[in-house]
Amino acid sequence: MRIGVLISRVRVEEKYIVQALEARGVDFELIDVRQVKFDLQAADQWKQYDVILDRCVSQSQAVSILQVLGSWGIPCVNRAEVVQVCGDKLNTSLALVAHGVPMPRTCVAYTPEAALEAIEEMGYPVVLKPAVGSWGRLLAKINDRDAAEAIIEHKSTLGSYQHSIFYIQEYVDKPGRDIRTFVVGDETICGITRSSEHWITNTARGGQSAECPITPEIDRLSQAAAQAVGGGVVAIDLLETHDGQLLVNEVNHTMEFRNSIAPTGVDIPGRIVDYAIQIGEGKHSGGNGAHAGQAATTIGGQA
Ligand SMILES: Nc1ncnc2c1ncn2[C@@H]1O[C@H](COP(=O)(O)OP(=O)(O)O)[C@@H](O)[C@H]1O
Ligand SMILES: [Mg+2]
Repeated sequence: MRIGVLISRVRVEEKYIVQALEARGVDFELIDVRQVKFDLQAADQWKQYDVILDRCVSQSQAVSILQVLGSWGIPCVNRAEVVQVCGDKLNTSLALVAHGVPMPRTCVAYTPEAALEAIEEMGYPVVLKPAVGSWGRLLAKINDRDAAEAIIEHKSTLGSYQHSIFYIQEYVDKPGRDIRTFVVGDETICGITRSSEHWITNTARGGQSAECPITPEIDRLSQAAAQAVGGGVVAIDLLETHDGQLLVNEVNHTMEFRNSIAPTGVDIPGRIVDYAIQIGEGKHSGGNGAHAGQAATTIGGQA
């Protein structure tokens, strides 16, 4: 068994993963994306890997590399399609809708005028998000029309190309926290609540984590969301509504988990490594699709 771990920046998470690999005595290699080059007609040197574990921070590079390796039949955790869907909030939403997974009402618009119309139709407050992003960056909660006009103008004048796609979501008046669950294969291995005074509850933004028991409902939704994006190793953000309903906010691939090990007592890196080993041994079909040799033909919205 030889595992290739695709990395760009070595975060705490990657260090834990390396420790877990060492503890299991698995033969592994850290593959730095900056050194990757493919001769597309020469797959042989890559066939030494039984499985690739992607921990790359750059979404676009990861997708490309996983597409190449996947097309050569090398099993990847996660598959290129999964990274592609999770890395883009619009793709994720489309996948959730296609699979009937409950989520906040979401609209997309492509001009400032249409965005303002969509916001007014939805009613305040709304949340504007960059389709590609994480750590709660560049999220805007818009409470009234003045703020909507200002944010839209700023985005269209100062924003990059990404900001010309307006991803607009109803604001879910959650109880000062959201829920983050971890799905590995077909199991919801653990979950945390992330509590904050701020409406953005990411731990990277100061949200405090505590264990969240996995109720049957949380388990069901987490599984459904994981399946919707194509399975593998993912983390699900869930929002609770006032009437106790749960909505899937987003699905993350290559998630951080440093703040979730202590509160849950679950060896998250160990579970990820064990799963990758299983995939490498071909013991696991992995989510709802085969791991090896799939070309990336579907982006989101897959049936
Ligand atoms: N529609 C929403 N309603 C209420 N809170 C939200 C909403 N969207 C995001 N949040 C809050 O902001 C945080 C970050 O949003 P998220 O969509 O997960 O983006 P990121 O990819 O940056 O983590 C969430 O964990 C949640 O606390
Ligand atoms: Mg999030």
